[in-house]
Amino acid sequence: QAKPLSLLCRLLVLGATLAMAHACPKYCTCQNLSESLGTLCPAKGLLFVPPDIDRSTVELRLGGNYILRITQQDFANMTDLVDLTLSRNTIGYIQPFSFGDLETLRSLHMDNNRLTELGPDDLRGLVNLQHLILNNNQLGRVHDKALEDLAPALEDLDLSFNNLPSLPWGSVRQMVNLHQLSLDHNLLDFIPEGTFTDLERLARLDLTSNRLRKLPPDTIFARAQDSLVLTTPYAPQLSLSLGGNPLHCNCEMLWLRRLDRDDDLETCASPPTLKGRYFWYVREDEFTCQPPLITQHTHRILVLEGQTASLRCEASGDPAPTVHWISPDDRLLGNSSRTTLYPNGTLGIGITTSKDYGAFTCIAASVAGESTASVEVSIIQLPHLSNGTGQPAQPKSRLSDITGTSRVTKGAPKGPPEKVVSAAEVTAESALVQWTVSTTAPKVKMYQLQYNCSDDEVLIYRMIPSSSKAFLVTNLVSGTRYDLCVLAAWDDSATTLTATNVVGCTHFFTQDSFPTCRSLPSQLLGGTMILVVGGVIVATLVVFIVILMVLLFFHLNGRSTRHPPPPPPPPPPPPLERNLETMKKYKISHGADVASQCVCFGVMLRVVYV
Ligand SMILES: *[C@@H]1O[C@H](CO)[C@@H](O)[C@H](O)[C@H]1NC(C)=O
Ligand SMILES: *[C@@H]1O[C@H](CO)[C@@H](O)[C@H](O)[C@H]1NC(C)=O
Ligand SMILES: *[C@@H]1O[C@H](CO)[C@@H](O)[C@H](O)[C@H]1NC(C)=O
Ligand SMILES: *[C@@H]1O[C@H](CO)[C@@H](O)[C@H](O)[C@H]1NC(C)=O
Ligand SMILES: *[C@@H]1O[C@H](CO)[C@@H](O)[C@H](O)[C@H]1NC(C)=O
Ligand SMILES: *[C@@H]1O[C@H](CO)[C@@H](O)[C@H](O)[C@H]1NC(C)=O
Repeated sequence: QAKPLSLLCRLLVLGATLAMAHACPKYCTCQNLSESLGTLCPAKGLLFVPPDIDRSTVELRLGGNYILRITQQDFANMTDLVDLTLSRNTIGYIQPFSFGDLETLRSLHMDNNRLTELGPDDLRGLVNLQHLILNNNQLGRVHDKALEDLAPALEDLDLSFNNLPSLPWGSVRQMVNLHQLSLDHNLLDFIPEGTFTDLERLARLDLTSNRLRKLPPDTIFARAQDSLVLTTPYAPQLSLSLGGNPLHCNCEMLWLRRLDRDDDLETCASPPTLKGRYFWYVREDEFTCQPPLITQHTHRILVLEGQTASLRCEASGDPAPTVHWISPDDRLLGNSSRTTLYPNGTLGIGITTSKDYGAFTCIAASVAGESTASVEVSIIQLPHLSNGTGQPAQPKSRLSDITGTSRVTKGAPKGPPEKVVSAAEVTAESALVQWTVSTTAPKVKMYQLQYNCSDDEVLIYRMIPSSSKAFLVTNLVSGTRYDLCVLAAWDDSATTLTATNVVGCTHFFTQDSFPTCRSLPSQLLGGTMILVVGGVIVATLVVFIVILMVLLFFHLNGRSTRHPPPPPPPPPPPPLERNLETMKKYKISHGADVASQCVCFGVMLRVVYV
């Protein structure tokens, strides 16, 4: 008679096994239509991607949940996934390489989330993605390499309604299959020339409501005209939206005015004479530029060698000219170990050397022309010690009379200091140079440091008082070799002249400016964050409940003390008692107020943490 029971048991076990094989995550619906599995979990209140999703799923819908972050486990091994929807969640973080296995993914919807940044490897591996929908996030930065993998296959890119001041334009340039590019409602203020040139299939470009003052001329905009001129057989007409940008209507925008278009959405924001005028109604001869004019510049400057110098050059014009500087020996100056070129035109020289003596030229240039000015720099030279074998450096400056006393003794002088020089604490831009001198050495008057690097072939001199045995060299270029020598000057009692000799030389390499910092194990960090956030939510709820209970207790107490036997109505209530009565009422209504505020606060906290 045990047979039916064992049969039942076997059936149960079989059923359980079947259920295991076709597991569908709790709260989700799974469809196994035409041999492709779809897992649908829309708006189920999920806080994370269910870990038990069948890895062979082809379509996965997780929209309208409360997912906070995407981790590497979430979509691991889903090599058949074609369609992934994560819209309307609260995703604020994507762990790098989370989509690494999704080589077949065609469509990724992540609109209406809380992404603030796309890192270099956040979308790594999505080599077949055609639709990337990221509108309505809070993206403020997309890393230069973030769109690298998807550029060739992408057909539809939607980044509208974010806070992007810039895009990886190099990747956009490679999106040769792009049909639609939605960049509206961002903070874009610049698009480099040539960005759209190769996007022959582009049919829609939306740049509405950005901060663009100008648009670079491009051949594809010929397709944005009402009378379409087909440049290539397959190129579609281009729908271009540009409204809501502060267009600067000068000669650089004349090309756009010459297109055969008639949308009167765009107005000019500047120059003042054209402000508010409809772009298409401004006459072509009103799109003018002003050649650069140098308004203020340093005329001459006198600097002690080794000190800083700041050469000003301010220019105006339309478009705003850029300022370039040419050194006395005819080199174009940029940012280097010794020089900084600021956006306002000022050239800063960190450590001047005798080579800076002469006329610097400031050139202000724009499409409308150029203008130049000359700045005389005189260097008061310090005595240059020679290393004992070479010739003493001749001062270029007539302003210096200190150098006359410096002499060099040929050959090995008596008791040259011991040669020990070392560079310690070398960082990307500084090094601590230390040297030791034997006690038997003659009394040193002063030391001098000489150093140069391959980046900027100038020998830099620094004078150091004789009491120092170390010097911090700053303003170095990162990742560069430096040759450095320490020289000493002392009085030669035999000749009554100043003798110099090399204390020692050394060389060192500055560190690269991008130090490889060890990143925290993100796994650990993520777990901790969830714990912390969870803890805070629980604590908030507990505090909230306690407050509610306390308030409720007071409220009930207040009522029970107020309710009992209705006191005989005293015919004319004395003013003091009336006051007490209103005060009591006030207290109670005020209590209710506090309660409602607490509720609001609690809800707010909850919203913030969710
Ligand atoms: C879906 O159906 C196919 C064949 O019809 C089967 O091989 C596969 O195991 C099914 N997958 C699930 C999860 O049910
Ligand atoms: C993915 O597959 C690998 C190898 O088959 C396995 O070791 C790993 O656990 C799988 N990961 C997940 C999340 O299923
Ligand atoms: C040079 O450096 C300054 C400040 O570090 C920066 O503002 C400027 O843009 C740089 N100039 C160039 C041409 O890179
Ligand atoms: C130019 O900018 C630099 C750095 O921002 C500043 O130190 C300097 O005073 C500015 N010069 C002028 C003339 O405004
Ligand atoms: C020392 O003198 C030699 C010979 O003139 C020269 O090649 C070398 O660069 C000098 N070294 C320093 C640090 O000035
Ligand atoms: C420093 O200058 C000397 C002499 O001109 C040169 O041989 C040496 O290579 C320079 N050092 C570096 C790091 O470029």
